[in-house]
Amino acid sequence: MTRRDARAQRDVRKEVFIEPIPELGLITMDGPTDPRPGITIDGGVISEIDGVSADDFDIIDRFLAGHGIDAGIAVEAMGIPDLDLARMLVSVDVPRADLVRLSAGLTPAKLAKVVSLLDPVEMMYALKKLRARRSPANQAHVTNRKENPALLAADAAEAAARGFAEIETTVGVARYAPFNAIAILVGSQAGRPGVLTQCAVEERRNLHLGLRGLTTYSETLSVYGTAGALIDGDDTPWSKAFLASAYASRGIKVRFTSGTGSEALMGHADGCSMLYLEARCLAMIRGAGSQGVQNGSISLVALPLALPGGSRVILAENLIAAWLGLEVASGNDAISSHSPIRKTAKLMGQLLPGTDFITSGYSVMPRYDNVFGGGNYDAEDLDEWAIIQRDWQVDGGIEPLSEDAAIEVRRRGALAIQAVFAGLGFPPITDVEVETAVTGFDSTAMPDRDRSADAAAADRAVADGVSGADVAIALSAAAFDDIAEAVLGMQRLRVSADYLQTSAIVDAAWTVRSAINEPNDYTGPGTGYRLEGDRWELLRTLPHQQDAADLAAAAGPGGVTRWDVGPAGTSSDPLDVVIAVGPGYMGILGSTIAGHGHPAVLAAISDGVTAGGGHPRFVRVLRTADLAFIGHDAAVLAGSGVAIGLQSKGTAVIHQSDLEPLDNLELFSMAPLLTLDAYYAIGENAASYALGTAPSPVPIEIDNYARAKLIVKTTLMHARESEAVTPDAEPVEFDLEFTEG
Ligand code: 5AD
Ligand code: CA
Repeated sequence: MTRRDARAQRDVRKEVFIEPIPELGLITMDGPTDPRPGITIDGGVISEIDGVSADDFDIIDRFLAGHGIDAGIAVEAMGIPDLDLARMLVSVDVPRADLVRLSAGLTPAKLAKVVSLLDPVEMMYALKKLRARRSPANQAHVTNRKENPALLAADAAEAAARGFAEIETTVGVARYAPFNAIAILVGSQAGRPGVLTQCAVEERRNLHLGLRGLTTYSETLSVYGTAGALIDGDDTPWSKAFLASAYASRGIKVRFTSGTGSEALMGHADGCSMLYLEARCLAMIRGAGSQGVQNGSISLVALPLALPGGSRVILAENLIAAWLGLEVASGNDAISSHSPIRKTAKLMGQLLPGTDFITSGYSVMPRYDNVFGGGNYDAEDLDEWAIIQRDWQVDGGIEPLSEDAAIEVRRRGALAIQAVFAGLGFPPITDVEVETAVTGFDSTAMPDRDRSADAAAADRAVADGVSGADVAIALSAAAFDDIAEAVLGMQRLRVSADYLQTSAIVDAAWTVRSAINEPNDYTGPGTGYRLEGDRWELLRTLPHQQDAADLAAAAGPGGVTRWDVGPAGTSSDPLDVVIAVGPGYMGILGSTIAGHGHPAVLAAISDGVTAGGGHPRFVRVLRTADLAFIGHDAAVLAGSGVAIGLQSKGTAVIHQSDLEPLDNLELFSMAPLLTLDAYYAIGENAASYALGTAPSPVPIEIDNYARAKLIVKTTLMHARESEAVTPDAEPVEFDLEFTEG
C-alpha cells in the first residue's frame, strides 16, 4: 500500500469537506452579506432591525419587534461596541445576570457579531459563565428497532440509574407512540424517580401524550431563521409560540429545537451565514417564552462540520442561547463524524464548560437500536464517557454503574412494564421478553411481538385516554408501589409546575433544581459549580477500576527451594556468568509483569547460559532496585565480566564490567513481552559474550500499547521492589532446587 492509499482509506476521508458557498448559506459565520447590526426605536416602538425597516419586516422581524427584543434595553445594549460586549462575555467581573439582561436588547446580527469575536476557549469560558443551571446534566435517548416495550423500559431504567435527568424516545411506527411513552415513563421511574421523559412524535400526538400525563417534556418545537423555511414547515413564530403555550399551560416542560444548517438544507438561507440565522431563531425562541432550546445543529451537524469553523459555530450557537438566558441542551446527539477523534474533539466545546444538558440525547443502547438515526455516543461508549469525566474532573452528567446494578435496575423496569401491560389489558409481555431485555445486548436478541396487535392496542389506549394515573394504578395493583408512587409524582409535577422554570430537572427527592433555585453563580475561580466532594467520588469511581494492592501482589515461589550460599564473591572462572536479581525477587514479589514465576525465569536463563557454554551463578543484589546497577554490580563479580541483571517485574539487561553502569550490551526494557524462550536466549547470548564471541541480539517483540496497559502495574511493582532495598548491603549468592515440575 502506498502512503496516499493508506491516508485515503481513513474513515474520516469518507466525509465531505468544502469551501464556503455564502449564496447558499453554506458559511458558518461572518457571511459577506450578513446584515450589519442596528436598531431604530421610535416612541418605544422598534422600527428597524439590522438594516430592515418596519415596512420590509418579514414574519420573523415582526415577531422580534413585538416580542423578541426588549425596546427598553435595546438602546443601551446596542450602543455597547461589539468588542466591549465580547470582552464582557469573558470577564470574571461581569456577572451572568448583567449579560442576560443586556441580551434582551440585542438584535440577531449583533448577537452573532459579538460572539464571532471570541476564540473557542473564550467561547467555552463564556458558556461556562452563562449556563443557566449551576450544575450540568444530561439527556438520554432510548429506542429500539423492534419497539419492544420491555427493552425500552429496561434501557430507560438503566439510563435513569446512570443519572440522566431526561429521557427521550421516539417511534419507528407512529401508532406505537403511547406504548413507547408508557414504557420509558415506567422504566425511568423504576430507575430513579423524577426523571423527565418525552416521546418525540408529530405535534398533535405529542401534545396528546403530554396532556394524558404519559410524558413530561417536549422539545419538538422546531424553528428556522428565515421566513421561507418557517413557512415551508407550515409555521409562523406565532404558531410556534401558541403551541409552546399549549404545552406549558398544561404543565409540560417545553424546549424548542433549532440549530445551524437547517435553512441551508431547506434551500431557504437567503444568502446568510448559519450563525446569523441561528441567532434569529434564538431571539424568536426567547420571544415565544420558551424556557430553553435544544441547539447545536442537532440533526444537521454534519453540514456545518463540512465547512471551515464547523465545531466553532456550533459552540457559538450554544453560547448565544445561554446568553439569551435559555436552558441549552447542546447537541452531541446525532452522529457528527466517522472519526472518534473528531467527534470527541468537538464534544470538548460543551463538555468542558458544561451545559444544562451536555448531549441532547446520549444513546444508552447500542447504536443499532438508535431509531434517531444512530447516536453520536452510544452504550458502547459509556465507559469512555465516564473515564473522560474522570480524566478532566468535569461533570458530564453520567454516573458510572456496575453491571450488577444495571442488571438489577433493568429487571425492575422490565417487570414493571410487564405488570402495566397486563393491568391495562395490552398484549402480554412474556417472561422471556423480560429476561432477554434484562440481559440481552440489543433488540436482535428479543423475541418478535405481534406488531399489529400492539398497534391496535395502542390505538385503543389513545381512544380510551389511558393516562399516567392509569399507569400508576396498574403498578400499584401489581404491588410496584414505589414505582406507582413515582409515576404519580410525575403527575403532581405537572400540577405544581415548578419544573416549568428555566432549566429545571427533578432530583430523586422530588426537589426541582432550576435556574431559579440553583442559578449558575460562576464568577471566576472559587465560585460556581465544581465537580468535588461526594459527586466527584461517585463519578470517578469506575466499576472496573482495580485495587492497587492486587496489581503488585506477592506470588509464592511454589515448587522451588531457594537458599543463600553466603556473600557473593568475585569469581576467577572465565566462564562464570552471574545472573543477578533485584532485592524483591522471589520475596516481596513472586512473578514478572508478564506473569512468569520467578523461578521459571531463572531456570530459563540459567539453561540458556549453560547451553551457550557458560557457568551460571545466582546472586541477589540488595542495595538497589535500579536495573543498570543490579547488572553492573553483578558483572563486576562475574569471572567472565558478563552478567545478566533482572528486576522482579522481569526487565533484564546483559551487562559487562568494563562498561559504564548506564551503558550495557543488551537491554530488554519491555518486560511484558519477554517469554521464557526470550529469557533462555538472553542467557545464551550472555554466555556468548563471556566466551568473547559476538552474538546477534535477542529479537524482541514490540507492543506499542504495552505502556498504556501496564505502566501502573510497572510503577507499583517497582515501588514494591524498592521497598525491599537494603542500602549498603552486600550481594548474596543463592541456589535453587526445583522440587516438582
Ligand atoms: N433546526 C430545527 N429543527 C431541528 N430538528 C433537528 N435538527 C434541527 C435544527 N437544526 C428537529 C427535528 C425534530 C425535532 C426534535 O428537532 O426535525 O422535529
Ligand atoms: Ca433530545
